[in-house]
Amino acid sequence: MPTVRPDPSADRRPASRRGRRLALAGVGAMLALPALAQTRRALAPMTDGPFYPPRRWRTRQGDDWDADLTRVQLAGRTRIAEGEHLGLELVVQDTRGRALDGAEVEIWQCDARALYHHPNVEVEAERLDAGFQGFGAARSGGDGQLAFRTIRPVPYPGRTPHIHVKLRHASFGELTSQLFVAGHPGNARDFLWRQLADADRAPLEMQLRAAAADSGLRWQVRHALVVPA
Ligand SMILES: [Fe+2]
Repeated sequence: MPTVRPDPSADRRPASRRGRRLALAGVGAMLALPALAQTRRALAPMTDGPFYPPRRWRTRQGDDWDADLTRVQLAGRTRIAEGEHLGLELVVQDTRGRALDGAEVEIWQCDARALYHHPNVEVEAERLDAGFQGFGAARSGGDGQLAFRTIRPVPYPGRTPHIHVKLRHASFGELTSQLFVAGHPGNARDFLWRQLADADRAPLEMQLRAAAADSGLRWQVRHALVVPA
């Protein structure tokens, strides 16, 4: 088994100004959308799993882990993530429907080649999609809203497509869960999905829709991250 070595191409500092502009454009688009149906059930808590990239490792790669996972600055040029790009518009609210200001939200998922970017993933660096950031973080505004650009999650051996999400806020502490693609046929075979009660599935199901042609995205979704009140 080849071991992971420090990847000289692994400068994962994507935080281009362009990236930030795109993320902000996503927020703007979100404001124009109709109000979310109020989901009152909090996200089902889950473990980090084996691929939450440790902060120490992220820092070594560069400390600029922004909300645009689809662009990575590499050797003076921008690499673009493979896969179908997804505008992930989120609003953090509690089970009473109150928006949470200043919630820290992290997401991580495998790349379009079904590989996580994590120090314990033992593959040659060339096999990873160098254009995919793998992990991103953002903070909600006063209206609870924030936005990421990422890829539509893909399955990897043993799992249906999902995006890991971790939230932190003084009001509830820390909560880790996963988001799934509503209607994906792999869900019914997924061990984790199968363990969830029906009522716990809806808050985790992303209802993807085709993105506007001029958005630069393939998919778009607006989703509430509901946390305990
Ligand atoms: Fe995972």
